[in-house]
Amino acid sequence: MSVPIISPAAGNIARAVRLLLDGQLIAFPTETVYGLAGDATNQEAVSAIFGTKGRPPNNPLIIHVADLNAARQLAVFDARAELLAQTFWPGPLTIVLPRGPGCAVVSRASAGLPTIALRIPDHPVALAVLGEFDRPVAAPSANPSGQMSPTTAQHVADHLTHGVAVILDGGPCRIGLESTVIGLTDARAVLLRPGGITRSEIETLIGPLAMPATTSDTDAKLAPGLLSRHYAPSRPLRLNAIDVQAGEALLAFGQSVPVGAAILRNLSPSGTLTEAAANLFAMLRDLDQDRFTSIAVMPIPESGLGLAINDRLRRAAASEPPLVADQ
Ligand code: TXA
Ligand code: MG
Repeated sequence: MSVPIISPAAGNIARAVRLLLDGQLIAFPTETVYGLAGDATNQEAVSAIFGTKGRPPNNPLIIHVADLNAARQLAVFDARAELLAQTFWPGPLTIVLPRGPGCAVVSRASAGLPTIALRIPDHPVALAVLGEFDRPVAAPSANPSGQMSPTTAQHVADHLTHGVAVILDGGPCRIGLESTVIGLTDARAVLLRPGGITRSEIETLIGPLAMPATTSDTDAKLAPGLLSRHYAPSRPLRLNAIDVQAGEALLAFGQSVPVGAAILRNLSPSGTLTEAAANLFAMLRDLDQDRFTSIAVMPIPESGLGLAINDRLRRAAASEPPLVADQ
């Protein structure tokens, strides 16, 4: 049986909030990707999130709140965190901070770490739910662990068939890539995951960001999302392709597209990175078909949002199995 997809009419927002109060899970749209949402103060709801996604318990969840005051109740904000929050929230930025003394979020949600990842999403439906619910909401991307994040309500329904009470439909996600995750738990600010806010936008405000090595044990504990293979379609990807080989599907970018592709999707015919990001996961899903041996992806510029797009593509293309399944 499939999970009902419902419109975000006021009555349905109220219904979703009642479900959350009852300890159940819902899926809601954010500006980045759809989230699998549960009451972050409820032990059973948090356990259900891990169970429904098949997510390893050592991979902490992002906690979503409606406003900055609610965020300040949960974590210790320093000057850098205040500056980032006031500039980019609501928006596609997650800040990892030391957990606050009165933090009501259950420890399991943060995988028992002394830190907490916080974000205020910039989407009217998510903000309506968070505002009415008035408690912190744990919401990882609404996909089974190891698969690509959903950018439409139908993507959620296609892959999560139980454990979710309803899916609120807010249309396709505007950004299409997950939030940028910044670690501010010590003096060195770390870019834990490139995403919807670019590295340079953040560095302009708080100075240079350190980059963790992608697969070391220490970093894997800090942010398991850094481990190499994630966001994967089932077909292999061939990156930086300038031609199409027999049996391949082509995922193009820009105007000069090689001829002879079996099927073609173009991330952005005009070569615009924001458009490419918004299309990335949906087009990879479209091309992930049995009749293709692999998906050839044309080069994407390694600048601005291109850093996050290439990060997702490299993880999807990584040939080794995950050390720890993520997402
Ligand atoms: O855009 C997004 O961030 C979406 C929407 C739904 O908000 N959510 C999302 O959540 O992508 P998820 O669970 O798929 O990714 C959470 C990332 C993981 O890489 C996780 O390791 C990291 O955030 N994370 C969460 N808590 C952390 C913590 N305390 N310390 C370090 N990393 C943390
Ligand atoms: Mg995820």
